[in-house]
Amino acid sequence: MNTSLVVLSALGLLMAGGAGLASAADAGKAPAKKITVFYPGSSGMEWVLKGTEHGGAKGVKKGETCIGCHVDDRTGAEEAPDFGRKISSGEKSKNTVLEPEPIKGKPGSIPVTVQAAHDASNLYLRFSWKNTGFSSGKKMDADNPVKLAFMLEEPGKVEYDSAGGCWATCHNDVRTMPGIKDDKKTKYVKDGSLANGKFYDLLQFRSGKGQKPVDGHIAERRVMEGGKALSEARGELKGDTWTVNFTRKLAGGEGDVKLEPGKVYNFGFAIHDDHTAGRYHYVSFGYTLGLGNAKADINAVKQ
Ligand code: HEC
Repeated sequence: MNTSLVVLSALGLLMAGGAGLASAADAGKAPAKKITVFYPGSSGMEWVLKGTEHGGAKGVKKGETCIGCHVDDRTGAEEAPDFGRKISSGEKSKNTVLEPEPIKGKPGSIPVTVQAAHDASNLYLRFSWKNTGFSSGKKMDADNPVKLAFMLEEPGKVEYDSAGGCWATCHNDVRTMPGIKDDKKTKYVKDGSLANGKFYDLLQFRSGKGQKPVDGHIAERRVMEGGKALSEARGELKGDTWTVNFTRKLAGGEGDVKLEPGKVYNFGFAIHDDHTAGRYHYVSFGYTLGLGNAKADINAVKQ
């Protein structure tokens, strides 16, 4: 080999191994997982745990997961579309109407394609879905037609984390829940604090001007800033399809879950469409996200 070839191949190795753009993983090349997000109405954690209203209360208390009962593990069939349709239209479930103020015509659910990958420095997540095209004509959040948030949590920290998914942060006394006058009380977790590690990491894409990525957490309350892990959250509506891409550092600071290859984390996500805010969103049940761990529902494989 002559010297220039040696130099060239050394350069190539450097680029492949370093943090250069050439080596960044691409979630778009990862296997696609379909997850339907549905309209949950006012089904907070207290509703989930109330045996007279929810058939799964006992199971959740024993640690059974939402998808354990609501997704067929053989066929992958989801109950989410049916739940969403019933709830968003204001139908009664057992004794409860989970949406006392239905938004007329609002679709009950959205099937979303989720893809994940990682490399030495980052986790990459891609969400894509068909735009619902629904418009109520009202704008609760005038600045953002669409928002997509996901949460990460280290299993075993928060009560009902693995069984409850995002529901562990969602309570019947928070703002925008039916009958709640307090417009300041946000989502929280039981005994939550950053010091004791009981928190959900919260990352959000906002479609409004500038698309500023939001990196926060939920502990005693919801905080929409302070995280250091989210480098990018960008989305676009092309034709009738929304695609949102996140780049999230594996390492992080306060209020960020530190991600390590081989491990599994609790994961859930939510979409606000039609300029909505607060509880008027679509949510996923709780899933697990793994970094090179085939046991997880979504496995971000190293590229
Ligand atoms: C042990 C099984 C089981 C588990 C675990 C479970 N559920 Fe259910 N769920 C049921 C059954 C049974 C129903 C049927 C209707 C009913 O009895 O409320 C139901 C109904 C529902 C509905 C539809 C309400 C309606 O009737 O319109 C929602 C929403 C729901 N569950 C959410 C959840 C969430 C969120 C979790 C996880 C935090 C969860 N479930 C965990 C068994 C379960």
